[in-house]
Amino acid sequence: MQGFGTTIFAEMTALADAAGAINLGQGFPDTDGPTSVLDAAVDAIRSGRNQYPPGPGVPELRAAIAEHQRRFYGLEVDPDREVLVTVGATEAIAASLLALCEPGDEVVLMEPYYDSYAASVALAGATRRTVVLRAPDFRVDEAQLRAAFTDRTRVVVVNSPHNPTGTVLSRDELELVVRLAQEHDAIIVSDEVYEHLLFSDGPTGGRHVPVATLPGAAERTLTISSAGKTFSVTGWKVGWVHGPAELVDAVRAVKQFTTFVGSGPFQPAVATGLRLPDEVFTGLAHQLQGKRDLLCGALTDAGLSPMVPDGTYFVLVDGAPLGYEDGLALCRDLPRLAGVAAVPVRVFHDDPEAGRSLVRFAFCKKDEVLHEAAARLSRLRRG
Ligand SMILES: Cc1ncc(COP(=O)(O)O)c(C=O)c1O
Repeated sequence: MQGFGTTIFAEMTALADAAGAINLGQGFPDTDGPTSVLDAAVDAIRSGRNQYPPGPGVPELRAAIAEHQRRFYGLEVDPDREVLVTVGATEAIAASLLALCEPGDEVVLMEPYYDSYAASVALAGATRRTVVLRAPDFRVDEAQLRAAFTDRTRVVVVNSPHNPTGTVLSRDELELVVRLAQEHDAIIVSDEVYEHLLFSDGPTGGRHVPVATLPGAAERTLTISSAGKTFSVTGWKVGWVHGPAELVDAVRAVKQFTTFVGSGPFQPAVATGLRLPDEVFTGLAHQLQGKRDLLCGALTDAGLSPMVPDGTYFVLVDGAPLGYEDGLALCRDLPRLAGVAAVPVRVFHDDPEAGRSLVRFAFCKKDEVLHEAAARLSRLRRG
């Protein structure tokens, strides 16, 4: 694991704290999710659900995950054989890659990528091959994606809506991934943690398209999600993976020796959340869209050109107009210059030049915090 030392988040959070800056670097909300979900967790603790839950996850959560997949996407999932509850999506990703890959296998990633992907590929002893999503549109280049696949490809990881770019992959792009996976007999690991954070003015009109709904995909896809983003409870670390029973069995075989189980009383609470009415889910996306517009407006006023995202709670900005060709240098200076912290995108890349001048801001914060951040960012213009 050499090369996987401290994450950038630790460095930027320390800088933000030292400068009294508003931390828009790390992507977690500063408000709690629905009260009924919080109450359900308290009830679960009070009613004694505090011991090891069953290895695959508590039955009501597995049932709620299957119901959720049917309700929103028309996917039929067997809660007993095809669902595994994990310690956040992060464990689902790690356990899937450890289960599926042998040393020498290759894993295709789209960069910039969520940093745990590269670490999990390394833990599995596999090799990553990446295709770059390039600013400002971050579209998938067919020739490059095709070139990333070889006869050693075991897994392709998809993440839509995509962290850190906020891109929502089109149906054509997803179909291309499925075609290439079929051609190379690869498994698709689809990280859909932002499945409910899509904006109505995006290309799909705010609708999420799970990879597993595409023709020929379900039999080779592990779909991963988690409660953290959807219910603003990132600290609960309740995630899940579903897919063909034999693949889920393989993931469970790994998981039983990593964490075995986790988040006992939070599991029934997440089941409550997944069964909430549609308006709760659309309301969250709507609220975030307003926050996106608020922060993007502030960044524009500060003389920057935000790359307005179609999903997630992240927005990317190019630091070059401020005289920063290196986003890391900008992020190191930003707390002092503007009293706001961000993270550099280049740390999510293998290609040192790709994304070099880009920085990422998170807008999953209270409106008053975003207004204050906006006021502070306006210093950049004056400067
Ligand atoms: C793309 C992506 N996948 C997974 C995760 C982690 O999810 P969890 O907190 O459920 O482990 C994150 C968190 O930021 C993420 O951005």
